[in-house]
Amino acid sequence: MLKLLVCVSGGGTNLQAIIDSIADGRITNAKIVGVISNNPGVKSLERAENAGIPACVISPKDYKDRDAFNRAFLEKVKDTDPDLVVLAGFLVRIPEEFVKEYSNRIVNIHPSLIPSFCGVGYYGLRVHEKALERGVKITGATVHFVNEGMDEGPIIAQKAVEVRGGDTPEVLQRRVMEQAEWVILPKAIDDIANGRIRVTDGKVVRV
Ligand code: GRF
Repeated sequence: MLKLLVCVSGGGTNLQAIIDSIADGRITNAKIVGVISNNPGVKSLERAENAGIPACVISPKDYKDRDAFNRAFLEKVKDTDPDLVVLAGFLVRIPEEFVKEYSNRIVNIHPSLIPSFCGVGYYGLRVHEKALERGVKITGATVHFVNEGMDEGPIIAQKAVEVRGGDTPEVLQRRVMEQAEWVILPKAIDDIANGRIRVTDGKVVRV
């Protein structure tokens, strides 16, 4: 049984997609053992509570400096002892030592087709604003393992989504969530939980 720790910052619709997918069997052999939010009072925490999942808030704002936050975050992760950490809309840079220690055991969902519209400064609605500004006809979402870079780890899954005339960033974000994020993130977790993928030479291969 793969123990999942899900890290969130806001609405938690990706967390909800994982919760629902475990409940209806789209994800097997996995269990969410904890949720960490860097923000108090967000919908993600309500979703965790409703699902009976232990949740806590660890915010950089509550620590004197980033090192102190990193230590507290790492301690909480170790207490939870997860097999896989899922960054589901988690808008905090995670400690480098954590990435090294959990190599290929941290996944992230990004709301574009990496390598487009990713890296420093590309998160949340801004990703969709930039996609619309560039006039792309297709965008989508990517699930990838997290490495030391920003959105540069081995790609696990991607799903394309059509950009339509008159789309606002909000409308496009919602379509990408509904048609891509909430589909490929649970599927990637199920694949990992059931041993269907591994990383070879920095690339994800299906076994
Ligand atoms: C999603 O668009 C996700 O791709 C991005 O942040 C947003 C979080 O949404 N990383 P939610 O908190 O899962 O609803």
